[in-house]
Amino acid sequence: MKKLNLVAFASGGGTNLQAIIDNIEAGKVNARIKAVISNNSKAFCLERARKHNIPAIHLSHKMFATPDEFDDKLLSVLKENEVDFVILAGYMKILSPRVIKAYKNKILNIHPGLLPHFGGKGMYGIHVHEAVLKSGMKVSGVTVHLVDEIYDHGPIVLQKCVPVEDHDTPESLAQRVLKVEHQLYSEAIQLFAEDKIEIRDNKAHFKR
Ligand code: GRF
Repeated sequence: MKKLNLVAFASGGGTNLQAIIDNIEAGKVNARIKAVISNNSKAFCLERARKHNIPAIHLSHKMFATPDEFDDKLLSVLKENEVDFVILAGYMKILSPRVIKAYKNKILNIHPGLLPHFGGKGMYGIHVHEAVLKSGMKVSGVTVHLVDEIYDHGPIVLQKCVPVEDHDTPESLAQRVLKVEHQLYSEAIQLFAEDKIEIRDNKAHFKR
């Protein structure tokens, strides 16, 4: 089994990042996180990385004259680290088509809802849970998917349902969903480490 080299991108608190770090340390995920990149120098995810001796890199578009120069830097960090998979864990920026093309089917994202519903532009964080409650759906869930050029659109790797309860607020639903996120992301990464997934017809299939 190959130990996967990961680079994680995050913008916020990084509880998903933490869960992946913990699962790697517990031997449940056969991977190493080579670096954590954040567009926000003050984001707690960078602190989490440092605590685990993972290089914490602040990289923002604002530091570069053009979007292309930003991409040059980003791609060079990924190349230097011989990255197998890029892990988006609450990264609030969109990767350019150039980066997505360079790492086709090698970028994973987690979404706090059941795609292809409740996704797309503006559908992030609490907005997802608000929309789910508004719809009257009795289940929500978590999606781990590969990233393509269209927002929240690439091949779905794993999904898990989470019940919506009668008294739920967006915040209480978010908490229940987040707990499942913390398991499911690691499970998805481990499937790739075990080489159990193949992409055919733009869909992720379990290998037989
Ligand atoms: C998660 O809900 C994830 O689904 C979404 O952003 C949130 C990040 O949370 N993409 P955290 O920073 O991992 O705590």
